[in-house]
Amino acid sequence: MQIGPYRIDPPVVLAPMAGVTDKPFRLLCKRLGAGLAVSEMTNADPRLWHTRKSLQRMDHAGEPEPVSVQIAGYDPAMLAEAARFNVANGAQLIDINMGCPAKKVCNVWSGSALLQDEPLVARIVKAVVDAVEVPVTLKIRTGWDRQNKNALNIARIAEDSGIAALAVHGRTRADKYEGEAEYDTITAVKAAVRIPVLANGDVNTPQHARHVLDVTGADALMIGRGAQGRPWIFREIAHYLATGELLPAPQPAEVAQILIGHLEQLYAFYGELQGVRIARKHLGWYARDRPENAAFRQVVNRAESAEAQLRLTRDYFAALAAGELLAA
Ligand SMILES: Cc1cc2nc3c(=O)[nH]c(=O)nc-3n(C[C@H](O)[C@H](O)[C@H](O)COP(=O)(O)O)c2cc1C
Repeated sequence: MQIGPYRIDPPVVLAPMAGVTDKPFRLLCKRLGAGLAVSEMTNADPRLWHTRKSLQRMDHAGEPEPVSVQIAGYDPAMLAEAARFNVANGAQLIDINMGCPAKKVCNVWSGSALLQDEPLVARIVKAVVDAVEVPVTLKIRTGWDRQNKNALNIARIAEDSGIAALAVHGRTRADKYEGEAEYDTITAVKAAVRIPVLANGDVNTPQHARHVLDVTGADALMIGRGAQGRPWIFREIAHYLATGELLPAPQPAEVAQILIGHLEQLYAFYGELQGVRIARKHLGWYARDRPENAAFRQVVNRAESAEAQLRLTRDYFAALAAGELLAA
């Protein structure tokens, strides 16, 4: 998939996730095969740009290109200014959030709530595209609710306004994260526009990735929750798409190496206190599907220092590699 001057290869993209796709996680996913990793959303309101959280979100030092930054807001001029600010700060792609159903976002009339107001969507998209030289991408849901699936209208607005690529999550805003994603609307969007379309929603395995690409005809896949705790999903999907063969699951020793590296990056990026806290979330996801999951989470949640968290994690994976935990 081509977005402006950037070739996105493999066409498997880490979805923006607030509280998840920080720089350490984006770097990890890119290293493990993601063709592109979109930042957490950055609020378009300049009054929020100087908080510690915002400054951490705007740190792109050492990030492989293209650096994609998502902005969220409701006011065209404010979003245009936020786009300019982020480009000056290293963004090589600007992504507009019209996909997020989170209350915090929708209460101020942004995220997927915007889909309800097509003229406003057109004004926002045009303002942002006109504001910056870099390609602008858009992320949407299939519509406002099941009676109002207007993704096709929005896609045409996006294309006419110069949007460089469109990601569609196969749920409406009212669906939140419930039920299963549907791909028919994504198929219709792909058939209606010439700009690249990314299919998003519930892609968790290489086989499902192939299926979604086949049924939608989309140019790329966007993966969110499937990458939580499993950042190697990108290389697994990329390999399967390229060869039709499944890679073996990573061995505990490799998982440990990836995990320890991730923890160290989190401590370095956030400092020890915050890093340890954020790491708990990722460790929980890593252990999610394992029978010994509960015990591991308890152990790791007890750790208050980086040293203890690293030691308990190393011990856990050493025991896992030795087969000691399988009998437990
Ligand atoms: C924890 C979490 C945070 C999210 N934050 C954002 C966000 O900041 N911007 C956005 O456009 N979508 C956000 N999303 C939606 C995802 O990008 C994605 O569209 C959705 O999770 C469906 O894809 P999946 O089934 O692969 O997870 C978030 C999703 C989750 C689970």
